[in-house]
Amino acid sequence: MILERIVRDRLHRVIVDRFGVAPYLTRHYLSKPPHMPDGSFPFDQYGDVRPGAVQGRRRWGRYLHQIHLPDADHAPHCHPWEWCFSIILHGGYVEERPGRRDRRLRRGSFNFLRHTDYHRIDSVEPDTWTFFVTGPRLESDWGFMVDGQFVRWQDRYVNLRP
Ligand SMILES: [Fe+2]
Repeated sequence: MILERIVRDRLHRVIVDRFGVAPYLTRHYLSKPPHMPDGSFPFDQYGDVRPGAVQGRRRWGRYLHQIHLPDADHAPHCHPWEWCFSIILHGGYVEERPGRRDRRLRRGSFNFLRHTDYHRIDSVEPDTWTFFVTGPRLESDWGFMVDGQFVRWQDRYVNLRP
């Protein structure tokens, strides 16, 4: 597949699920990836960026995402950028957003989220790839909306990972 050829020599990051076990998302960097000043690998075993990593800051981030699993958490989450969007390249998914009817996004679909938008991916087709673009990274982290309250992801995941 052409997508696999595009990403073959690029740095990628496998982000695991909230239990720290199964691959949830593979992020292939099209824009400058984070790096460690000592040249070591910039991600930990969960796919999180390691402390001390220098972020490849650009105004816009560009990635190819392979989405392996839907969002296990039933609470919707926000993203840590001022805005971001996805274009579905292959496969597709069903998205939930509070107060909206669920949407099925297919190849060619466009999905835009502001930082204040919360969503959740309910189901994913096999071999789903998206082109994902992010705007400026915000100081505030991402998290979940739980009973109308914002909960930071670190607080939500506490004690879930080994
Ligand atoms: Fe999301």
